[in-house]
Amino acid sequence: MLGDNNLHDIRACVFDAYGTLFDFNAPLAARRARIGPAADRLSAVWRQKQIDYTWLRSLMGKYADFWQVTGEALDYALAVCEVDDPALRAELMQLYLALDAFPDTRPCLEALKGRRMRTAVLSNGTATMLTAAVNANTLTPLLDRVLSVDACGTFKPHPSVYQLAVDELDAQPAQVCFVSANGWDAAGAAAFGFRAVWINRAGAPAETLPFQPVAEIRGLDELAELLPSQPEE
Ligand code: LAC
Repeated sequence: MLGDNNLHDIRACVFDAYGTLFDFNAPLAARRARIGPAADRLSAVWRQKQIDYTWLRSLMGKYADFWQVTGEALDYALAVCEVDDPALRAELMQLYLALDAFPDTRPCLEALKGRRMRTAVLSNGTATMLTAAVNANTLTPLLDRVLSVDACGTFKPHPSVYQLAVDELDAQPAQVCFVSANGWDAAGAAAFGFRAVWINRAGAPAETLPFQPVAEIRGLDELAELLPSQPEE
């Protein structure tokens, strides 16, 4: 069941980064020939542990930035998959700095800019990681802000993270469309008061949390038509 689907008052569009704009499976895809059949499992465990560790560190009150957490999660994933290759670890971390954008990322941002919509990234990633990914895909002109949780010292879905976008964009939460391919992140944004849109790329079941996105779509190509054009300055 979707929440109140009123997107008429939206004044800014805020995107999650990893899994939404950028493909976190790209590093393993680039090294698939070297890793062999374990590549998909390694990528899945890496991602899941990365997110688990953000939640665990937040609950413990032991923040470390997302670059460190991403490396620690990769170490776990390599151990589970019994891959002992320090050079590969270093390569995968470097590849994480220049993740491919999804094919629908640029057209979506261009369509929103065609509607004069303000756009931002709000991510667990460090400023260095986010700048690297944005630059690698030459998306800088299409983004008004690139916001890192580093400023908050905790991770999504802590409300202080979503508040950062409200403060930076000078908008009410209900005027912000928050876009994420991570169901738990869409739920966190909805709980905060954003109008969340879930990009259900994998056709996953909806989260059974009482904080629902206002819309569920299969790709970023469906987003712009849901949002209003902004008035000319
Ligand atoms: C991010 C992770 C959650 O970009 O995908 O914040």
